[in-house]
Amino acid sequence: MKNITVLGAGVMGHGAAQLFAQAGKNVRMRARRESSLEKARELMTNSLKIMVEKEILTEEDMKQALSRITYTTDLHEAIQDADFVFESIPEDLDKKLETYEIIESNVSDKTVISSNTSTFPLNELTQQAKHPERFIITHFFNPPQLVPIVEIVKVGGTNENVVNTTYDLMKEIGKSPVVLKKEITGFIVNRVQVAMLREAFHLMEEGVATAEDIDIAMKGSLGFKWGFCGPMESQDLAGLQTTKAMVGNIMQELSNTREVPSFLKEMVENDQHGIRTNKGFYEYDDNGEKAIHTRDDHFLDLLKLLQQK
Ligand SMILES: NC(=O)c1ccc[n+]([C@@H]2O[C@H](COP(=O)([O-])OP(=O)(O)OC[C@H]3O[C@@H](n4cnc5c(N)ncnc54)[C@H](O)[C@@H]3O)[C@@H](O)[C@H]2O)c1
Repeated sequence: MKNITVLGAGVMGHGAAQLFAQAGKNVRMRARRESSLEKARELMTNSLKIMVEKEILTEEDMKQALSRITYTTDLHEAIQDADFVFESIPEDLDKKLETYEIIESNVSDKTVISSNTSTFPLNELTQQAKHPERFIITHFFNPPQLVPIVEIVKVGGTNENVVNTTYDLMKEIGKSPVVLKKEITGFIVNRVQVAMLREAFHLMEEGVATAEDIDIAMKGSLGFKWGFCGPMESQDLAGLQTTKAMVGNIMQELSNTREVPSFLKEMVENDQHGIRTNKGFYEYDDNGEKAIHTRDDHFLDLLKLLQQK
């Protein structure tokens, strides 16, 4: 797996391209507009510069990584000789299917085609594929160049070699991949996240805590622990008798709503989208630039710590 094609130069595409390049791969990045490629190149350069400042990479590593990335607006050129195609275009099924049709007609049968989809089942993505067995989902998290997990999703028809090669590639670029035993909507992390958010929203609606209180409570507890000690490990350390009692006493009191809370719907209707509109659970005056910078600065410190362990 030497030649990697990244399709889509947005939030996820540029971060993934950077990772592949850092790991020594030849990366071809494709977007429809020159301006998107320019923006991606700028974002990757900035991200690599910060890694140099934090002594995660050397100046030479950065130069080498940037020199391994080539840019094109031509899809055919982008996929030429690709060993692994990483599709990260918008979450629109028709656009993805259209793109796969072109990819499949122009690459070798050995090329692995992966999607970063957050929501589409693999069988839907491969409904028109000539070789569905070489398609796979590699679901990264934002910012992909920093967050370690990649959820790998296969179906019954996926070639096991494709699964193994993809797993090895994710390890090679420094990720912590997990292969799901079977496909399920939301995969692992977003299911657990939504279960937690349902309860957090419930606590807000019941007037138990504000959004800020919830952030303080979670950052100072599960957030603090989970980077090094996952929820299951934590239970072993606490003692499973305690876990049994806690789960038994609290589970029946939890929210089991299947509805999106009305306050959240209202926020979105009133243009409170978070940093994009400078207002969400918090207020911003710079489209979240400072918040993103602070977040990435902390994430890099954590990444460095994790890499040293
Ligand atoms: N943003 C996240 O947090 C996140 C996390 C995990 C997975 N994902 C998934 O990753 C994929 C990309 O998401 P994103 O947030 O990077 O999106 P984005 O909108 O930031 O970027 C998409 C890129 O694709 C380009 N594009 C648009 N239409 C295209 C087309 N027809 N052909 C080729 N390129 C096209 C856009 O110009 C842009 O460069 C989606 O499938 C999304 O569900 C997103």
